[in-house]
Amino acid sequence: MKLALMLATISLSRAALAQSPVWGQCGGIGWSGSTTCVAGSTCTEFSAYYSQCIPGSSAPTTIPAPTTTTPSAPSSTGSAPSGISSIPASTLHQITNFGTNPNNVGMYVYRPAKVAANPPLILAIHECTASAQIYYSSTKFASLSETYGYIVLFPSSPHSGTCWDVSSTATLTHNGGSDSQGIISAAQYAIANWGVDPTRVFAAGTSSGAMMTSVLAGAYPDVISAGVVDSGVAYGCFSLPGQPEDSWNSQCSTGVLIQTGAQLAAEVYSAYPGFTGTYPKMQVWHGTADTTLYPQNFWEEIKQWTTVFNYPSTPISNISESYLPAGYSNATYGPRFQAILAQGVGHTVPTFEQQYLQFFGIA
Ligand SMILES: *[C@@H]1O[C@H](CO)[C@@H](O)[C@H](O)[C@H]1NC(C)=O
Ligand SMILES: *[C@@H]1O[C@H](CO)[C@@H](O)[C@H](O)[C@H]1NC(C)=O
Repeated sequence: MKLALMLATISLSRAALAQSPVWGQCGGIGWSGSTTCVAGSTCTEFSAYYSQCIPGSSAPTTIPAPTTTTPSAPSSTGSAPSGISSIPASTLHQITNFGTNPNNVGMYVYRPAKVAANPPLILAIHECTASAQIYYSSTKFASLSETYGYIVLFPSSPHSGTCWDVSSTATLTHNGGSDSQGIISAAQYAIANWGVDPTRVFAAGTSSGAMMTSVLAGAYPDVISAGVVDSGVAYGCFSLPGQPEDSWNSQCSTGVLIQTGAQLAAEVYSAYPGFTGTYPKMQVWHGTADTTLYPQNFWEEIKQWTTVFNYPSTPISNISESYLPAGYSNATYGPRFQAILAQGVGHTVPTFEQQYLQFFGIA
């Protein structure tokens, strides 16, 4: 009895040994070992000399899993999906191969069940340490799209720490590369393939995502129609030419870097010297107790955009709004620029998506 059991165990392990393990070799010239793989893996030939047991089936799956993190694996380069209907509804869905993307920025789309005709697009851009998935679940951009029918793109930073590159000359330059160009490529892809209205491409972001929103407004005013900057900095304030991408500019963050409106506007113009159109409408939010991006950045943003729009340097109205918390003031300088200051609020001001949508003309 005991011996029989032992024999059974031996034959079992022999049987197991007869198959190559996951990642083990399973073929190739000169290979005398097993040519079959353990369950759950498939022998895949890489060259005449080497085949390996690769987890899963060798055939690439074409069915996107219904979870939020699974790549959709669009089949091949250059094959555009047939419109927005190719994107699964009401789930966060990754897209790839959407155009020039030098830094391999991750890109996720949220498409509501009912997409409006010629839908608006919102680029919803996360803060440091977050991701597309985190911003998707921590904000109402996706859920409100079910009401208003717009499409949301959630970019995901490729950098460790997941801040955005808002400091390199590449990212601050129209078609200069880096993160900003990757994000814009996805917006252009959405216009070309999903019927997005090119006059209603909006950007909104928090903290590092707010800084990226400023970058997009300055470097891609031809693509972005309006931007909401929640606890960010002026376009170009983080600029550190010659430093590695995604560097931290503490002169800017601490509010030591103070410039004139003319200097700040000149930075915007230098991002895209050939641009002759209208700059995006801007709405900026900042807390007076922000010790990550000091409140001086709010005043720098005001100088920048009032100069770009040729607005007076003092607001034409500055009021508290019934739907905003006490201590918030909404300063309007003209139809294209508003600045909301939140007394006693630190980093960051909570997102007020419904107000952003009103500003975008969606709600
Ligand atoms: C608007 O008014 C509030 C309250 O008086 C003030 O704290 C804030 O600085 C003003 N905003 C601007 C942009 O001037
Ligand atoms: C600020 O005031 C302007 C002008 O009244 C208004 O259009 C806008 O919706 C307000 N913004 C916020 C965030 O309340």
